[in-house]
Order: sequence, then structure tokens, then C-alpha cells
Amino acid sequence: MSTYDLIVIGTGPGGYVCAIRAAQLGMKVAVVEKRKTKTHGGTCLNIGCIPSKALLYASEKLAEANHDLAALGVIVDTPKLDLPAMLKHKDDTVAANVNGIGFLFKKHKIESFFGLGEIKAPGEVEVTAEDGTKQTITARNIVIATGSDVTPLPGVEIDEQTIVSSTGALSLAEPPKDLLVVGAGVIGLELGSVWGRLGSNVTVVEFLDRILPGVDAEVGKQFQRILQKQGFTFQLGQKVSKIEKGKRLRVTIEPAAGGEASTLEADVVLVAIGRRPVTEGLGLEKIGVAMERGRVVIDDHFATNVAGVYALGDVVRGPMLAHKAEDEGLAVAEILAGQHGHVNYEAIPSVVYTSPEIASVGATEEELKARGIAYKVGKFPFTANGRARAMRQTDGFVKFLADAETDRVLGVHILGAGAGELIAEACLLIEFGGSSEDLARTSHAHPTLSEAMREAALAVEKRQIHM
Ligand code: FAD
Ligand code: NAI
Repeated sequence: MSTYDLIVIGTGPGGYVCAIRAAQLGMKVAVVEKRKTKTHGGTCLNIGCIPSKALLYASEKLAEANHDLAALGVIVDTPKLDLPAMLKHKDDTVAANVNGIGFLFKKHKIESFFGLGEIKAPGEVEVTAEDGTKQTITARNIVIATGSDVTPLPGVEIDEQTIVSSTGALSLAEPPKDLLVVGAGVIGLELGSVWGRLGSNVTVVEFLDRILPGVDAEVGKQFQRILQKQGFTFQLGQKVSKIEKGKRLRVTIEPAAGGEASTLEADVVLVAIGRRPVTEGLGLEKIGVAMERGRVVIDDHFATNVAGVYALGDVVRGPMLAHKAEDEGLAVAEILAGQHGHVNYEAIPSVVYTSPEIASVGATEEELKARGIAYKVGKFPFTANGRARAMRQTDGFVKFLADAETDRVLGVHILGAGAGELIAEACLLIEFGGSSEDLARTSHAHPTLSEAMREAALAVEKRQIHM
């Protein structure tokens, strides 16, 4: 029986980062991964962040060639889609990333076990390989990093051909004429954008009366208008109650508040109503690990109620984001090494990789109102930013929310080109407990999109220059 300092179950962004950091800190580490492709990187690298961004990037290039280049004086013959080549670009990107993790594991002498991991007792994991062979490995500590998978829609069977989850939507053989998306969340709008750019008519059915719940409402509203201009149709305040398969799919929708049902037809339905933690087959009930609403319960140091068993990433509380899982992976490894690993949940950004992008960190205006915190708002539109004009990408704005008394920045929300990159300085600002004055006094290169960040910070005290 092989013995380790640490066994990590699941090699997504949480698990693999934890394993590498633990090895750097001198621990003997083993990882267990059940993915049939025998690749590391979890949901994010195999079927999530990375392939979706490869398709978002490639499809955006096609959309630019179709709609935007002529206005810049660049004339291309009618651009054409070569979907197999685009899918190959996605697959190559995934392969390069997952192989990279395999290489890093070897470099850090981390041992990989492929198969389903089950915790038999504290310190003991049984690995069942695909062919049924079992082996037991032991360690002082175990980290559960088993992530999440698709939340099913009751009564609807996902076949990954015509009724797909995000996984199937990353590999459609052709753009469906009509794509119906259930859920106006991040996956629905990102993958809806991909297929919309490749020629599909996209209809999004959303239970709530707004898109992207959780995003600052002002951002969500303006973004909805932009998506409608791009061709999206929204059915808000509606839920899907039935999908019938025939030559095409017949989708019954009903008002969420009750009322008369109606039907829509589609060639493909993408179910994107959220993700749920993966704990099945892990043996948690048997060893008595506490759970709450499907998630593993942990304390402030990522410890479960069972000694020597820790958990992190999508399987525990908090946003289901790759970088949040990574941050937790680092923290857990450091805690296990006797250091002071810590995650600042106030400073975790979130990005929607559509066109334009949405990025935010900290509280939304609605959250501040609900918490009764007095705040000041500074806003600056990209229409007044020279670089955005030069790029003809003037949709959107930057919004700063600062404490009314102390000026400490409480939230930053960006809708606009490059938002996902621009948000990094806001994260740093919040991490350092900075004020809008701090950012307003910081030199920003001209002409850059980042000047809109500074102008929004200046606008908190109504002293923006270019508006
Ligand atoms: P996961 O990445 O889910 O990894 C868990 C791993 O554990 C899996 O490989 C699984 O096979 C394995 N496993 C589970 N149970 C066992 C077991 N019993 N034994 C052995 N192995 C097991 N987040 C972002 O921040 N940015 C994005 O752009 C982004 N895009 C996304 C796009 C899509 C389409 C999807 C679906 C998700 C996206 N996410 C994104 C979310 C992101 O993928 C997750 O938050 C992240 O992968 C969570 O990391 P994790 O390590 O907790 O779990
Ligand atoms: P989501 O939680 O972002 O959105 C789901 C949407 O579906 C919500 O708007 C919800 O109101 C709606 N909904 C729920 N039940 C419904 C029903 N029966 N009918 C109609 N609408 C319904 O979930 P999504 O998009 O599936 O993504 C899952 C998670 O994956 C995200 O929350 C995020 O954590 C992660 N992710 C992150 C990305 C990023 O960071 N760019 C990209 C993709 C996924």
C-alpha cells in the first residue's frame, strides 16, 4: 500500500493547484482523477473555461470579419465558417492545457491514480479504475476537490446531441438553425453567443425577470439590450415545463408566476440552469462528513468535521469559479504545511466572456442597498474613452462604488471591451483596502481602456475630466 502526506481527490483547478503547492512545500502527494480521458484539469480545462473561451475567441473573430472590419477599412471576401477547424482549435487548446498539468505533476513528482476515489476511512482512499481493479492508498490528509456538474432540468433528459449541457454545446457538429437556451446565466449567454455568431437564432428562456442574476442590475439591463441588438431573443419570467422530441424539438414554456403555456420550436436545446456539487460515490456519508444542501461543510480553514479531511472548490460554499478554487487550493496546501493560507472572498472577480465582456468584483449596488451601507457612485462610459473609439468598441461603462464616508472601494463593475483584463486592478485595489482616491491618483497610460477605470474613480467625486 502506497502512503503519502496528501491525497487530493479531483484534479480541477482547485485540486491540481493544491497538489502542486503541497509538493512545492515538501509533501509527498498523490492525486486521484476519475475522468475517462485520463486527463487532469477538471471541468475547467477539459469541458469548461478553456474550450468555451477558445470557441468564444474564434467565433468573435468571425463576427468581427462579418460585421466590424469594413468600418475600419479592412475588406475581406465574404468570411466563411470552417467549423471542424474551429473545433480543432478548441480541442488543441484543451490538449495543450491538460498536457501541461500532466507535465507539472511529473515535475513535482506527484503521483496520478486514474479511477473513482472513495474515502474508506480518514486517511484511506480506495481507487477503482475503469476496468474495476481496486487499490488502496493512504495519507495523513485528504483533500476533496471533486467539483461540480450540470444541474438537470426535471423531466428533461440530456442526450448531448439535441438536448445538450455545456459539454455537448462545445462540440455541436453544425450550428443549429434555432438554439433554445434554458437559463440566462453565464453558460447560457457565453455559449449562446458562440452559436449566435456562427449563425444560430438564439432564444433564451429565463425563470427570473432579468438576465445574469447576481450581476449589478444596471450592467445586466444594458447588456441585455446589447445582446438583443446582436440577435438574442429573451423570454424572461418563463420556465420550460416540457420538451418533446420529433423532427424538431417542441418546447413548452410557462410563465414562472403561473399562466398560460406556449410552445417554441428548436433544433437544439442547451440546458444551463446552474451546476451542483459532485459528492456521489465518495463515501462521505459512511465516514460522516457533514453536508449542507449538497455541498461539503468546511470551517474557515477548509477542514470538514472529520479530522484530516479537507474540501475546496465548487464542492464547497461560495462562487463556482476556477480562480476561487485555485485560491483555495493554494490556501489549503499552505495550511497543511503549517502556514497561514487565506482567501479574501471580497476580492474575487467574476467575468462573463461575451462581447462586450462583463467583469466585477466586490458588492453590487443592490447588495449595498440591502446591507444599508451608504455609498458613492462614479461612472464613466467607454463612448468617452479615446482608445475605445479608435477600436470602435464604445459599448458599456465602468462603475465604481465607494463607501460614502471612508471612500474605500466596495465594488467595481465593468461592461465593455477588455473588461476581464481591466478588473485586475480593481481586485488589487480592494485587496489592499484602497480608496477611489488611490486609483484616481494613479497614472494610467494614454490612450488605453484602463483610463476609463481612472475616470470612473475620479467620477466618485464628480471630477472626471472627459465627461
Ligand atoms: P472541477 O474542475 O469540477 O474538477 C473536479 C474534478 O474531480 C473533475 O475532473 C472530476 O472528474 C473529479 N472527480 C469528481 N469526483 C471524483 C471522484 N470520486 N474520484 C476521482 N475524481 C473525481 N470558471 C471560471 O472561473 N471562468 C470561466 O471562464 C469558466 N467557464 C466555464 C465554462 C463552462 C462551460 C463550465 C461548465 C464551467 C466554467 N467555469 C468557469 C467554472 C469552473 O469550471 C469551475 O468553477 C472549476 O472547474 C471548479 O474547479 P474544481 O477544482 O472545484 O472542480
Ligand atoms: P447560472 O447560475 O449562472 O445561471 C443559471 C440561470 O438559470 C439563472 O439565471 C437562473 O435563474 C436560471 N434558471 C434556473 N432554473 C431555471 C428554469 N427551470 N428555467 C429557466 N431558467 C432557470 O448557471 P450556469 O449558466 O449554468 O453556469 C453554472 C456556473 O458555472 C456559473 O454560475 C459559474 O459559477 C460557472 N461558470 C462561470 C463562467 C465564467 O466565469 N465566465 C462561465 C461558465 C460557467
